[in-house]
Amino acid sequence: MGKLFVKKPLSILLSEASESDKGLKRTLGAGSLIALGIGAIIGAGLFVRTAAAAGQHAGPAVVFSFIIAAAGCALAGLCYAEFASMIPIAGSAYTYSYATMGEFIAWIIGWDLVLEYALGAATVAIGWAQYLNKLLEKTVGWTVPYQWCHSPFETSDAGVHGIMNIPAIFILLLLSLLLIRGIEGSAIVNNIIVIAKVAIVILIILLGWQFINPVNHTPFMIPENAGTVTMHNGTVVDYSKYGFHGISGVLRGAGVVFFAFIGFDAVSTAAQETVNPKRNMPIGILVSLFVCTALYILFSYVLTGIAPYQDFLKEGGEASVAYVIDKYMVGYGWLSTFVTVAILAGFSSVILVMLLGQTRVFYSMANDGLVPKVFADLHPKYRTPYRSQAMFFIFVSLFAAFVPDSVVGDMTSIGTLFAFVLVCLGVIVMRKTDPDLPREFKTPWVPVVPIVGTLFCVTMIFSLGWENWTRLIIWLLIGFVIYFGYSVKHSKTRKLVK
Ligand code: ALA
Repeated sequence: MGKLFVKKPLSILLSEASESDKGLKRTLGAGSLIALGIGAIIGAGLFVRTAAAAGQHAGPAVVFSFIIAAAGCALAGLCYAEFASMIPIAGSAYTYSYATMGEFIAWIIGWDLVLEYALGAATVAIGWAQYLNKLLEKTVGWTVPYQWCHSPFETSDAGVHGIMNIPAIFILLLLSLLLIRGIEGSAIVNNIIVIAKVAIVILIILLGWQFINPVNHTPFMIPENAGTVTMHNGTVVDYSKYGFHGISGVLRGAGVVFFAFIGFDAVSTAAQETVNPKRNMPIGILVSLFVCTALYILFSYVLTGIAPYQDFLKEGGEASVAYVIDKYMVGYGWLSTFVTVAILAGFSSVILVMLLGQTRVFYSMANDGLVPKVFADLHPKYRTPYRSQAMFFIFVSLFAAFVPDSVVGDMTSIGTLFAFVLVCLGVIVMRKTDPDLPREFKTPWVPVVPIVGTLFCVTMIFSLGWENWTRLIIWLLIGFVIYFGYSVKHSKTRKLVK
């Protein structure tokens, strides 16, 4: 117990980093970091969860939900940037917190990041399956039967029950194999995908603007007396309930679309490969966030202007963007096909980053002895953590195959929000406990920025409702059992630090 907050010595961290990352060159400038950020950020949050948030919670006022979520992310992003610059090595919030806030907090963050990365990957894979079906419908006139692309918790309008989501497993398998093989040299592909993603968002905003029907934007928030609707997946939405109309709906919508911003922290993991991280790291994090926020606000305004929000509960509930173009933007069939293909590629790149991030965090945790060594086993030829990648393929697939996207999506949001709260509070704590540690980038106006950031994130956590709090608490409790049952006995830092 006495070593609950044992810190991993910075000297060890830095020497480990220089060993494991030998050969890493500082090549990334601000532009590459922004591309990396946007590549990891734009995905199912925008092209799937926006419609869900608008249809169920916020209506067209999902625009405000995006602003709230962006504010929380920007404030947490400033705190992330300070951590990233304080310990400028490849890693993540787990690594920073181990050196600064001690093992127990590091464990909570590392464990919590599984929600962000693994369940995030599952959510995007489910979205991928929806758009794949759209593409199949357009090109070959056939779709994967409902029961084989939905979880057992979903039922179609025709009464067909879902069994498992096979296309979601397929894409996870494909990308896991790719990661096992190693993905060096994929920067060009990533850049092409980033350009395609940004291009379709801008195209939809520009071309869709003329199809905005002001009727759909009135009233802007969902009224309390909007009644009940049975969704395409069998769920009944009662708009009179708290969180399903008015301001409470906008707040809950913020928790849902928060998913769309997840990934900007991926930028911070490239600190060691960055030229002049002091300047470029905050630019990379904040500019990619800013660009995405601007695009998201305009995009959601256009989407909810073209189609009534109730559509997103029915036929428009899946592959919503392609649906909106096909149904309302007459004459733009080509755009819908182009968008669907770009989305499939874009989702793949997000899943890739998440699966990679997940195994990297567990790789570090395994090297520290906090999770079994098998998570750090490297493939003899490819030098990738292949066993870990394979195990996470199974773990993520179970969620993608058998759980609805709304559940995994909100779990991803709540898990990440919780990690952000810890990072924000961590900045305040560190300024008190280690005021002299060099910080290449300092969060401005501490403690105001971290406190307001925490408030935004906590508000979104609360807005996500008791089902999600319960899931988060259960997840953390499982983590505590593993920590006290396994990790405390195997922790290398505990043995090292007397
Ligand atoms: N922000 C990422 C997405 O929306 C996770 O897919």
